Amino acid sequence: MTTLRQYLNSTGCDDKLADLIELVAQQAKPIREAFISNQEYVDSENIYGETQIALDKWSNEHLMKIFKESNLVKEAASEEEAEIVKFPDAKTDYALTIDPLDGSSLVQVNLAVGTIVGVYEGSVMQPGVNLRAAFYMLYGPLTVLGLTVKQGVHLFALNEEGDYVMTERDVRIPEGKLYASGALKKDWLPEHARFIKYLEDEGYKLRYSGSFVADVHQYLKYGGLFSYPAYKGKETGKLRLLFEANPMGFIVSEAWGRISNGKKNLLEIKPEKLDHRVPIYVGSRGVIEKMEKEYDI
Ligand code: F6P
Ligand code: MN
Repeated sequence: MTTLRQYLNSTGCDDKLADLIELVAQQAKPIREAFISNQEYVDSENIYGETQIALDKWSNEHLMKIFKESNLVKEAASEEEAEIVKFPDAKTDYALTIDPLDGSSLVQVNLAVGTIVGVYEGSVMQPGVNLRAAFYMLYGPLTVLGLTVKQGVHLFALNEEGDYVMTERDVRIPEGKLYASGALKKDWLPEHARFIKYLEDEGYKLRYSGSFVADVHQYLKYGGLFSYPAYKGKETGKLRLLFEANPMGFIVSEAWGRISNGKKNLLEIKPEKLDHRVPIYVGSRGVIEKMEKEYDI
């Protein structure tokens, strides 16, 4: 049985990075507890004009407080904050991106949601290829941690003693046959519609939950292609480069999969602003290479 700390120590990564990952991963407990007290919708909108439920806000504020007290984070960009938050007393150079509660519309119906974290050195305004580490906590029947410190992807589960224990070492995404596409079908652009039709004709099976972190976790395990495309009226797509696409794409790429914006490796895109949106194709390597080669998306 390998605990998260034992694994991190074995990688030879910086102690401060190990402390930071462990600290954030431990916040799964208070966040899960808050599911009971912070469920209701509140009369407010987040900075992108979306209805914000109390739990998003709570998770964001909680994580920001933990970052500040830890002195392990130099700056943090959050999906719930309009500006980068700086922590001048930090003793490290780590810059974090967080999606405090991805898939939050599913909280009301008790489906899996999660927290997504990207760790950079210096600044968050860098392409995803520069990530130093990326991980997510998925709040399903179990609390699962998916992590890479650029030495493969490993899965852990939180046990009753409150320790993360490794459940799967060196995850490799298979060339599986699941598919998903966000946005209304009537708004799909022709190239995307053609590609989805090709997948259906090839016997791919639809799996889409409405929680990006939970969907990508499933694709990591079973393989296939998850997409949230550019669509009529929103050619940038819906999902966010910094908070969603880069950390999850980095993890999938470390597991031998790929992430693309339809044309090239999404991890090479330099963010232009915090709210940079991108069309996303993420999953098994073969199907993404085929899409880039044969469909001009
Ligand atoms: O954070 C955005 C998000 O909630 C993702 O987790 C999810 O994949 C997507 O939006 C769902 O969007 P839609 O409701 O348009 O399918
Ligand atoms: Mn999100």
